[in-house]
Amino acid sequence: MNVSEAVAARVSVRAFKPDPVPGALLRELLEAAHRAPSGGNLQPWRVHAVAGAPLEALKAKVGANLGGEQPEYDVYPENLWDPFRTRRFECGEDLYATIGIPRDDKPARLRQLFKNTQFFGAPVGLFFSLDRKLGPPQWADVGMYMQTLMLLAVEAGLATCAQEFWARYPKTVGDFLSLPDDHMLFSGMALGYADPSEPINSLRTRRDPFDVWADMRGFD
Ligand SMILES: Cc1cc2nc3c(=O)[nH]c(=O)nc-3n(C[C@H](O)[C@H](O)[C@H](O)COP(=O)(O)O)c2cc1C
Repeated sequence: MNVSEAVAARVSVRAFKPDPVPGALLRELLEAAHRAPSGGNLQPWRVHAVAGAPLEALKAKVGANLGGEQPEYDVYPENLWDPFRTRRFECGEDLYATIGIPRDDKPARLRQLFKNTQFFGAPVGLFFSLDRKLGPPQWADVGMYMQTLMLLAVEAGLATCAQEFWARYPKTVGDFLSLPDDHMLFSGMALGYADPSEPINSLRTRRDPFDVWADMRGFD
């Protein structure tokens, strides 16, 4: 598989097979992704991988507190405006349509949302943290690490779903990972083998046409 194929094949997967991911393979992927670039080569990411009994314990703890905590940060600005509002809306509608949940069935939508707390059944839960004194450029660096990892995962036959949802549980996750106070939780990520028989994994999100988000000057 080449890079273009991995980029095209990567999608967010929200239903996984229970099959475990060998620790040696995961370590190989985490180390390979560490070649991701970062401004000034700060390598600001800290990566925490959880599986087996500790993962089950964390899932049980978070699953018993669906209300969440004071979030680490706001994932989206308040009153999101267009075009972002529409893109987010369409993404949600398309997702719930794959599993036949109508717009007015709030409880069913919440039940699906809370599957985030269970890493969508993935055998590996990842967390990404960084020194909280670092700023937006370093947050972007952590995103680069995450995308590099997600592409390498595809190459290895694995699937992922990045999860900012975990920003709702900074205290529980921080305590669980023994994160020092000067470190903040940026995101989680589910990783494992996709279950292709699950309708939710049929979602293929839309992208706006090229001219909406790019311009090119000075080319032939
Ligand atoms: C940083 C980041 C955080 C995300 N957080 C969540 C999340 O908490 N839960 C979720 O279901 N999807 C999450 N996603 C997945 C996005 O919804 C998804 O990437 C987007 O809709 C595009 O779909 P695709 O990944 O299938 O191409 C996240 C993606 C990124 C990049």
